[in-house]
Amino acid sequence: MLEDEFSDIVRKASRGLGLDTPTLASRTGIAASEISAWLKGDGAPSEAEARELAGALQLDPGKLADSALRRWEPHVDAPENVRHHPQNPHPSNGYIFFLEDGKTAALVDPAGDPKNLKRAIASGPYVLRYILITHKHLDHCDATADVAAQFPDAQIVMHKLDVHAIGALGSKALPVRDGDELPFGDAAAIRMLHTPGHTDGSSSYLFKATVFTGDTLFAGSVGGAFGDKTTYADILHSVKTKLFKLDDETVVMPGHGPPSTIGQEKLHNPFF
Ligand SMILES: [Fe+2]
Repeated sequence: MLEDEFSDIVRKASRGLGLDTPTLASRTGIAASEISAWLKGDGAPSEAEARELAGALQLDPGKLADSALRRWEPHVDAPENVRHHPQNPHPSNGYIFFLEDGKTAALVDPAGDPKNLKRAIASGPYVLRYILITHKHLDHCDATADVAAQFPDAQIVMHKLDVHAIGALGSKALPVRDGDELPFGDAAAIRMLHTPGHTDGSSSYLFKATVFTGDTLFAGSVGGAFGDKTTYADILHSVKTKLFKLDDETVVMPGHGPPSTIGQEKLHNPFF
């Protein structure tokens, strides 16, 4: 199931553009009461109404209509060297990925019950080289201290604009910048992409043909704009100028919801 439904997409775009429901109603000719009901997940627009709303919200009309009428979902498997791990009680996604030896590992977003994480990592034996953090929200980093204590040799990687969220450990985080390459194994590297907008320090991490996008890009949607300085426009800009520059075959492993690919997102994400 997709992370965001039609109502979530319309809410994010209207908030991002500063358009309230009465304004949307007057720009589309659709009754405000109808739009309000759809935003609550009550009923759904027709194809024509969805296209009309898309025009007012600077979204893609055909792709928004697909979302309203539930006509698209990606069917992408996680790559072989990537494993998803539970982060309950949070509904967010965490990942561990490996080099070919199956032992050298990196963790994306240490969050949730530390027991789950310890189990996921301890089913190794792994050498955990990196703890990569996509952004400062607690459902993505609230187990950092536990994981760091268990794996003191693992390097924490987090953008400096978000690093305050992990407290004193922030001083140990590698202060990465956009485009930095982290050596991983003999011949591989992890590339950090600064993708601000959801938060100021939001980061994506590219390893081979997989990109971990945190809450910047979801299958069929984007994260909400919660930056202190960065905005909705920044999140769209980050996706267009950083993530959509990757190969179409690149698998997107998001912070919430199912995997997708860059090519699928170009074809189906209503924000682009
Ligand atoms: Fe978030």
